[in-house]
Amino acid sequence: MNYRHAFHAGNFADVLKHMVLSDCLRRLMVKDKGLALIDLFAGIGWYDLASEEAARSPEWEGGIARVKAKAASNAAEVPALVANWLSDTASALHVQGLETGRHYPGSPALMAAACRAQDRVMLCELHREDSLTLTARFKDDRNVTVHPTNGWAAIRTLVPPPTRRGLILIDPPFEQPGEFDRMELALRDGLERFATGTYLLWYACKDAAACDRWLGDIGRTGARCLDARLSVAGAGLMPGLLAAGIVVVNPPFGLEEALGPALDWLGPLLQRGAGAQWHVRRMSGVW
Ligand SMILES: C[S@@+](CC[C@H](N)C(=O)[O-])C[C@H]1O[C@@H](n2cnc3c(N)ncnc32)[C@H](O)[C@@H]1O
Repeated sequence: MNYRHAFHAGNFADVLKHMVLSDCLRRLMVKDKGLALIDLFAGIGWYDLASEEAARSPEWEGGIARVKAKAASNAAEVPALVANWLSDTASALHVQGLETGRHYPGSPALMAAACRAQDRVMLCELHREDSLTLTARFKDDRNVTVHPTNGWAAIRTLVPPPTRRGLILIDPPFEQPGEFDRMELALRDGLERFATGTYLLWYACKDAAACDRWLGDIGRTGARCLDARLSVAGAGLMPGLLAAGIVVVNPPFGLEEALGPALDWLGPLLQRGAGAQWHVRRMSGVW
C-alpha cells in the first residue's frame, strides 16, 4: 500500500470527483429521511496543500487553484454545481477550523460536513497510519465511524445500510492491476444487496478504449448510470494522469442536467494541452 492521496489532493481528478459528490449529497438531502454515506477508500479526510507531499509536484495548482482563481475573477459565470461545491468546500474546512486558502477537503470531510443528525458517515481506510489520522480527525464527530478495514470486503458488511437510503463512494488508488474488475464486482455485490443505493465509482482513465469496455460492463448491470469524464490533454502528450471519470449509478434527479454546464466550464479551464475533452453520458438502464 504505497498510495498516498496527499500527493494528488485537489488535482483535476479530485475536482471532478468532489464536485459530483457534493452535488449528489445536496440532491439526496432534499428528502428528510436519514442517509448512510459510505466511503470505501477514504484517505485522511482533508489535505494541507502546503505540505511536503503536496509541494512535490503541486497537482492542485492545475485543479482547485485554477477553479478558485477563475471563480474569484468572475463569480457570476460559475455554474451552479461548481459554485455549490466551492461553498461546500469552504464549509467543510470551516467546521474543522481549517484555512480555506491552504487546505483541501477530501470526500470524508465533505460527507461529514453535509451529514445531518439523521445521517451516518462510514469511512474505510486500510493504510494503518492514514486510518489513525482519519480516526483522530473525526473522533469528536458522533455521526462518523472510521473502519480500518478493506473497502472491497466492506461492501458486504456495510451494505445495505439500516436506513435503506445511501450513497457509496468507491474510489480505489488505481495502482494495482485488476482495479476495474474489482470495481465491477463491488458494484454488482452492492446492487444485489442494495439496488436503490447511489454508487459513485471514480476511475483513472489511462487507456480510453479499456475504460469504454469497462463502462460497457458496468452498463450491463442494467442499473441507470451516468458517466462523466474529463481529459485535460490527449493521451501520452505528457507524463502523469491526464484523464479521469466518475460513474454515478442511480444518479439523483437533476444531476445530469447540472453536470453538462459544469463540465463545459471546467474543461477549458483545466486543460493542459491539445486533445482535452469531456463528456457526460447516459449508459444503459431504464431512464
Ligand atoms: C484515492 S484515495 C481516497 C481519496 C478520498 N476518497 C477522497 O476523495 O478524499 C484511496 C485511499 O484508499 C486507501 N486504500 C487502498 N487500498 C484500500 C483497501 N483495500 N481498503 C480500504 N482503503 C484502501 C489508500 O490508502 C488511500 O488512502
